[in-house]
Amino acid sequence: MMFEPSSRLLFINTLILCTLLFLQIPDIQAQVGHLPPSEVDALHEIAKQLGKEDWNFSLNPCDGNANWRTPTLNSQMFNNVVNCTCSPDDACHVVNISLKGQDLAGVLPPSLAKLPYIKWIDLSYNYLTGTIPNEWASTKLVFVSASANRLSGRIPAVIGNLTTLEYLTLENNMFSGKLPVEIGKLKNLKLLILTANNLTGELPMELTSLTNLTELRLDSNYFSGRIPNLGSLTQLEKLEMQGSGLEGPIPESISLLTKLTRLAISDLNGEGSQLFPNLSSMTSMRKLMLRGCNLRGSIPGYLSQMSNLQYLDLSFNDLGGDIPDLSDIDLEKMYLTGNFFNGSVPSWLTDEFDNEREVDLSYNNFSDVPQSCYERLNLFRSYTSTNDSDLGKCLKSHPCLKTYYSVHINCGGPKVTIGDKVYEADQDLTGAARFLPSNDHWGTSNTGSYWNRNPNATINDYVATNVSILSMKDSQLYTVARRSPLSLTYYGRCLANGNYTVTLHFAEIIFRESRSFKGLGRRVFDVYVQGVNTIKNFDIKNEAGGVDKAVIKTFNNVRVTNGTLEIRFQYTGKGTTAVPERGLYGSLISAISMESEFKPLELKQISHGKKRTFLVIGVVVAVLLLILTVVGIAWKKGYIGNQISRERGLRGSDVKTGVFTYKQIKAATDNFAESNKLGEGGFGSVYKGALLDGTLIAVKQLSSKSKQGNREFVNEIGMITCRSLFSEDREQPKPCYTNPLASAESKLVGKPG
Ligand SMILES: *[C@@H]1O[C@H](CO)[C@@H](O)[C@H](O)[C@H]1NC(C)=O
Ligand SMILES: *[C@@H]1O[C@H](CO)[C@@H](O)[C@H](O)[C@H]1NC(C)=O
Ligand SMILES: *[C@@H]1O[C@H](CO)[C@@H](O)[C@H](O)[C@H]1NC(C)=O
Ligand SMILES: *[C@@H]1O[C@H](CO)[C@@H](O)[C@H](O)[C@H]1NC(C)=O
Ligand SMILES: *[C@@H]1O[C@H](CO)[C@@H](O)[C@H](O)[C@H]1NC(C)=O
Ligand SMILES: *[C@@H]1O[C@H](CO)[C@@H](O)[C@H](O)[C@H]1NC(C)=O
Ligand SMILES: *[C@@H]1O[C@H](CO)[C@@H](O)[C@H](O)[C@H]1NC(C)=O
Ligand SMILES: *[C@@H]1O[C@H](CO)[C@@H](O)[C@H](O)[C@H]1NC(C)=O
Ligand SMILES: *[C@@H]1O[C@H](CO)[C@@H](O)[C@H](O)[C@H]1NC(C)=O
Ligand SMILES: *[C@@H]1O[C@H](CO)[C@@H](O)[C@H](O)[C@H]1NC(C)=O
Ligand SMILES: *[C@@H]1O[C@H](CO)[C@@H](O)[C@H](O)[C@H]1NC(C)=O
Ligand SMILES: *[C@@H]1O[C@H](CO)[C@@H](O)[C@H](O)[C@H]1NC(C)=O
Repeated sequence: MMFEPSSRLLFINTLILCTLLFLQIPDIQAQVGHLPPSEVDALHEIAKQLGKEDWNFSLNPCDGNANWRTPTLNSQMFNNVVNCTCSPDDACHVVNISLKGQDLAGVLPPSLAKLPYIKWIDLSYNYLTGTIPNEWASTKLVFVSASANRLSGRIPAVIGNLTTLEYLTLENNMFSGKLPVEIGKLKNLKLLILTANNLTGELPMELTSLTNLTELRLDSNYFSGRIPNLGSLTQLEKLEMQGSGLEGPIPESISLLTKLTRLAISDLNGEGSQLFPNLSSMTSMRKLMLRGCNLRGSIPGYLSQMSNLQYLDLSFNDLGGDIPDLSDIDLEKMYLTGNFFNGSVPSWLTDEFDNEREVDLSYNNFSDVPQSCYERLNLFRSYTSTNDSDLGKCLKSHPCLKTYYSVHINCGGPKVTIGDKVYEADQDLTGAARFLPSNDHWGTSNTGSYWNRNPNATINDYVATNVSILSMKDSQLYTVARRSPLSLTYYGRCLANGNYTVTLHFAEIIFRESRSFKGLGRRVFDVYVQGVNTIKNFDIKNEAGGVDKAVIKTFNNVRVTNGTLEIRFQYTGKGTTAVPERGLYGSLISAISMESEFKPLELKQISHGKKRTFLVIGVVVAVLLLILTVVGIAWKKGYIGNQISRERGLRGSDVKTGVFTYKQIKAATDNFAESNKLGEGGFGSVYKGALLDGTLIAVKQLSSKSKQGNREFVNEIGMITCRSLFSEDREQPKPCYTNPLASAESKLVGKPG
């Protein structure tokens, strides 16, 4: 509004007068006079119903003061807003109440219906009980979010009266029973999220009349029956049904959903298998997951036309044949674990060493697999083998040094000694498609990344650390655990054949039991021992009767016939994924023991002292050999020296060597600045650096504190060296991570047994 100077004066005068009036008659109604008294009363009631105690009614809810509208610092999980719309004559109405992350412990407020202009209500991340009140039938609500609360009972039929609704999210509650047919009346609905409830029964046909839906998420429920025909929902961009309980097959009509950018269906019930559904018209697809959907046949070639495809997860199906060449699209993650892909591993997956793509081919049926281990290409058990103790070709560089009768691992954590058992450290940062064996007798294979995870998250998602002090017995085993969003295998190897006792230690160290939305998480996963699904829908918190309590699962008579023992944890789309932080979920394992049930045989071993001497000599000789070989090859091929001199074909006298002074490296990495840190390995951290001429380098800072052995050190050097050679020489991929020491060592020490 613009004022003439005189009228502005008048306005200010009026304002002062008003203020004086207020001061003289401290009438609360008058002070919040912009709102009609009926709405102020309604707010009082709403506060009471919600358990919201800090609204200050002597301040005007509509003038934007901090009590009624707290600015939020980009938080997805907190909000404290009441907005009004005000007409020019200063009559205001509440349109928006958004109270997120406040642990309010009341109910969804029936008195909301007394705010005739209310459009938007967001009460997610609280501790509310009850259900959707009948009174809301008369509102004109457009947006309702009550995610991460304790709402329960059936979703009431009255939901169908909220016909103005466009957004409805009830994720992470305890709604049960059938989805009411009245849902079909919400013709304006664009977004419907029912993830992580306890809904059962078949989906109502009426759902298919919600033709304006752009996002539909039904994950983690106990629905039954087949996936309905959703072909009418042609506006859908996101469709998610992970662990919904529904049965396959995926209906053919899915091919009509041409706008899909995100499709996630997982863990379908029922036995019937089907061919890959026709997704050829979904050219905007970014994230595609058809996991555990009983798909057979092969992957269709048109996936290579999905130019936006970043994420592809087809794990745990019966797919086979060739993997189409997707090297032309910017695929970031591909999970094909648990299928029957055969033939040879396609060269486009092994070719480019320096790409960012993470690909998991573990548990497949290839006949021809590289001898190498790769940081971003998981080939654990990716092939059929005549030798049934083969877990990975790259383990050939880790020959058994002796026969083991027990293995103890402190998953995700440091070495822990309990009595006479030493739980070995397991502190690799791991990755989305990772199998890098750490020693001869055990290791891990990890698959999967977190769906819907904030990409800016900085913590290491694959390790979970306790949030409270733990007091159970042997608590050191539980303070850190491994977490995995899809599939995590621990294997023991070089074991004497016979029966073993497997002991798995679990504790829920992330979810809390507090009166808070943080206490509303549910974790559910499956456990496999030697390929057998020994625990289904395992819920640590339920089993232990609370958080921070140990659950120890013991399996006797576990047969080892081929020297290997595998324990695998699999997430199957069940449980919650929104609390205490969105996108952190999955299986959780604290510690593992494998112990033979029989007495070790007398070992025919070279005495300890002798063995050590041999080892030391071996290491020294091998290191010298390695250095000579590497320098020799590098010099011969001209890798030592800078780019320009190499391109000119200059070799020899005027080639600059690749040796840098400590000072140079310190400068290049900004004194090993934390911000330049790329990662952490067994021997220390890796840093990014830039030389004065702009050349980017990676620097590994070797830590003298490392407890790993000389052998691993040489491995590491070998790996770094051959990786850098490799990335220069793309046309001719060479096997990498061959262990120069392995053969020397096995000769020196002799074959075990
Ligand atoms: C409410 O706001 C008034 C005016 O700013 C202030 O004087 C009063 O202390 C506040 N009350 C509470 C409970 O914070
Ligand atoms: C409500 O308040 C929030 C936060 O101040 C603001 O972002 C939003 O635009 C407001 N909405 C309306 C309709 O005023
Ligand atoms: C309601 O408030 C929330 C939180 O500030 C805001 O994100 C949203 O846009 C608002 N809605 C409307 C319709 O103003
Ligand atoms: C909901 O709408 C139906 C008609 O569609 C009506 O009969 C019923 O009374 C309404 N329910 C409430 C609680 O207003
Ligand atoms: C879908 O939404 C549009 C506006 O976004 C609206 O005009 C149309 O009526 C809606 N469709 C149905 C079936 O209600
Ligand atoms: C889910 O519903 C089943 C019965 O259908 C019940 O046994 C179970 O306790 C419910 N779970 C939760 C978390 O409410
Ligand atoms: C796949 O679906 C598209 C669009 O619905 C259709 O044009 C095409 O013919 C279908 N392909 C097959 C093999 O059925
Ligand atoms: C791969 O498997 C298919 C059947 O699933 C078979 O026809 C084909 O010959 C196999 N290819 C190789 C190279 O083994
Ligand atoms: C896996 O490969 C083996 C050997 O090539 C073959 O005998 C077996 O049938 C294959 N399995 C499947 C399901 O293709
Ligand atoms: C070793 O034998 C077990 C069962 O005894 C089996 O589950 C596993 O697949 C075998 N391992 C390999 C690598 O073949
Ligand atoms: C991640 O960070 C970038 C830049 O800081 C920001 O623009 C983006 O919105 C953030 N994404 C999320 C999901 O927070
Ligand atoms: C080993 O375990 C199997 C079952 O896995 C059992 O049948 C067998 O008797 C056990 N053998 C011994 C020696 O305990």
